[in-house]
Amino acid sequence: MAILNIRKLGDPVLRTKAKEVTEITDKTLELLDNMAETMYAAPGVGLAAPQVGILQRIVVIDVEDENGLIELINPVITEYATEEIIMEEGCLSIPGKSGKVKRPAWVTVKALNRKGKEFELKADGFLARAIQHEVDHLNGILFTDKVLEEE
Ligand code: NI
Repeated sequence: MAILNIRKLGDPVLRTKAKEVTEITDKTLELLDNMAETMYAAPGVGLAAPQVGILQRIVVIDVEDENGLIELINPVITEYATEEIIMEEGCLSIPGKSGKVKRPAWVTVKALNRKGKEFELKADGFLARAIQHEVDHLNGILFTDKVLEEE
């Protein structure tokens, strides 16, 4: 495994829409492993492939809850709560910055796991927050685009 270089604000790759994964290969699995290692080393609770310069729809998340490491390939948020809540966010690509962002309180996300099997996850709290933040990365969106108040 290897720790990858995390791209920082200003790098155009962070503003580029990532492409769907069409085939899960050994390279995909290696990327997932390296992304997890990079996230834990940072340390962080989520990392999207564009943040390591790879324009593929791949996300890893670990908010230190009972789910442990979550790997999402081609994630799609299929349901959003109508209730929106404000939470503090930060980003490994924007070190030293955090801010309050309003987002739906819970979401349902559909994705493929590393075996190519589709699964669905309903998440609330900090996990719902992390999922929405990371899926935004796949679309070139950063939390600073949505921030209410910077801190
Ligand atoms: Ni981020």
